[in-house]
Amino acid sequence: MKLAISGKGGVGKTTLAATLAYIFKENGAKVLAIDADPDANLAGALGFVDLKGLTPISEMKELVAERTGSDPGTYGTFFSINPKVDDLPDAMAKEINGIKFMTLGGVKKGGGGCICPESVLLKSLVMNLVLARNEVVILDMEAGLEHLGRATSTGVNALIVVAEPGQRSLETVRVVKKLCADLAIKRVAVVGNKVRNQSDIDFITQNVDGLEVLGFIPFSDSIIDADRNGQAVYFNSPEAVEAVKGVYAKLVR
Ligand SMILES: Nc1ncnc2c1ncn2[C@@H]1O[C@H](COP(=O)(O)OP(=O)(O)OP(=O)(O)O)[C@@H](O)[C@H]1O
Ligand SMILES: [Mg+2]
Repeated sequence: MKLAISGKGGVGKTTLAATLAYIFKENGAKVLAIDADPDANLAGALGFVDLKGLTPISEMKELVAERTGSDPGTYGTFFSINPKVDDLPDAMAKEINGIKFMTLGGVKKGGGGCICPESVLLKSLVMNLVLARNEVVILDMEAGLEHLGRATSTGVNALIVVAEPGQRSLETVRVVKKLCADLAIKRVAVVGNKVRNQSDIDFITQNVDGLEVLGFIPFSDSIIDADRNGQAVYFNSPEAVEAVKGVYAKLVR
């Protein structure tokens, strides 16, 4: 299974990505968790403390130059649009509690349509991760919709949109639904997060424009505490784990 996790800022994408990664592993899968957010924090949510050795791939200037045949930081020159990337996942992944982890970073300048060596390398790498790997791949996306306009989400077989009980995150769900139809992503499903009661659940259910709903994660102090203490939700919030197990069960059904 190749999964991308999307949604508005702060709705709980990273929390879900990290917890799902552990639950896939608990069920015997090999898991590759990918931070595709330039403002990265998936490693922390997996419980990884020493972030020093984690340079996002897009910021490895020499690597970008070597693989694309470009000079670092140059624009308007010739470079390979089909760089070799198949050895990078194994060379670059770190192991966090039995989960393989990579941080891609992003392309900060140039905007969504940027065709620069960094974005070309990232696109090729994501396509390789999604199409050529035999692990479960979980992509924690950046907030918003830009990744849908680039190649970053192409090729995944399911995209989960996280929503909280509020108009703004549900508006994002509806826009994501439209964009995914254009990208031929087969399965788009919603996970409701930060729900406090049945009325929150009903509100989300009624506003997802007919999309499949995989489950709901309660608003929970233990999730906030895990984040505050730099610990994985998986080891610190039984209620979150219970809810995400339900999401997993529907996902693989
Ligand atoms: N069910 C929940 N109950 C309480 N707090 C939550 C819950 N889910 C997430 N949070 C908190 O909300 C904040 C945002 O969560 P998270 O980082 O997972 O969201 P995100 O969508 O990845 O954000 P970003 O858009 O910045 O990447 C964190 O402080 C997290 O601990
Ligand atoms: Mg995040």
